[in-house]
Amino acid sequence: MERRSFLRTGLAGVGVAGLTATPLAATVAPRAFAPIFNPRASADGVVKLSSNENPLGLSPAARDAIVNGLDEANRYPGNTGDAVYTALSDFLGLSRDHLFLGAGSTEILRVSVQAWAGPGARLVYAQPTFEDVPSYSRPFPFEHVTVPLTDDHEHDIGRMRSEAEKGSGPTIVYVCNPNNPTGGITPVAPIESWMKEAGEQTLFLIDEAYFEFVDDPRYRTAIPFVKDMPNVIVVRTFSKIYAMAGIRLGYGVAHPSTVRRIAPFTTRNNPNHLAGVAAVASLTDSELVGRSVAVNAEARDLVTGALDDLGLEYLPSQTNFIMHQIRSELLTYNNRMMDAGFSVGRPFPPMLDWSRLSMGMPEDMARFAETLMDFRKKDWI
Ligand SMILES: Cc1ncc(COP(=O)(O)O)c(C=O)c1O
Repeated sequence: MERRSFLRTGLAGVGVAGLTATPLAATVAPRAFAPIFNPRASADGVVKLSSNENPLGLSPAARDAIVNGLDEANRYPGNTGDAVYTALSDFLGLSRDHLFLGAGSTEILRVSVQAWAGPGARLVYAQPTFEDVPSYSRPFPFEHVTVPLTDDHEHDIGRMRSEAEKGSGPTIVYVCNPNNPTGGITPVAPIESWMKEAGEQTLFLIDEAYFEFVDDPRYRTAIPFVKDMPNVIVVRTFSKIYAMAGIRLGYGVAHPSTVRRIAPFTTRNNPNHLAGVAAVASLTDSELVGRSVAVNAEARDLVTGALDDLGLEYLPSQTNFIMHQIRSELLTYNNRMMDAGFSVGRPFPPMLDWSRLSMGMPEDMARFAETLMDFRKKDWI
């Protein structure tokens, strides 16, 4: 039987009609890939589906590098930083003066905001989107301009542009691509023509935290633009596809003049030694990315099958999370999910009857799907 229909049949067996056939978790075929190290649940037994982490855990190569790296933990990490710059520069095909590092990509976002802050500054961003940039800008006199996503849940680049052009001071345009929490992509072409025409006062902060998960042919990374355009910073992370969220390493890619502008705001001695050796090792693990993408796709298919069966709307996802309708009040839903052993995503106004669900291991998502079916029987969703 074709895998998807097999799963759907399994779901029907526990479905809305209340039949209690084989539990769905037991119907999931043995997966191709086992978790490598990281236990999929937190210590209290709750399965964490709230922070878009990678349930597979660290690359074995990164794990070994960290254990071996402990011998050097008493030393400042200058050589490690060099190794990270060299590895990233080879990986991206760009000289190292295009790169800067942070303790997670959140630090890249923070220093970019700080470097562009100033009197009359504007920050233009979508709603909903990832909240770190607006929140880091709060101590500074930024005027915040939010622009709703289009009906296709893409960034409304036309409206963002006209809002940005109303200002005369420094402006940050934050584009999360793919977007968190909606999971879809925004085609780069209209952003590219705007970037070319905008002056250096306008910074395009392009957050590509989830780019490795994307298979939409309309998607393009913005990295090639940094060669000629000093008004672009592309933000990447080792937290998601490389499963290093707890170890903290992100990087910014920009024109060398932009890297110099950012430099006074960056933390000296980034990255920490263990993050650095883990990142270098992860980049050499050619299997890790494919394995993470495959497990994520399997989990996502399972969840979308359940949502289809329940008639709950969801947004097509190019990431490791899915935004789906819950047809109930979010706080109550989250509490009920916690009682059922799942921690799910925070609120993303204005989508307050939607839930952002991170993908765990397929067997966890099968249990999650059964929980959704149970919620339907109780008339909770
Ligand atoms: C879009 C986006 N950017 C940046 C981050 C920050 O991640 P980190 O600091 O772990 O790299 C996240 C985390 O969830 C995210 O979703």
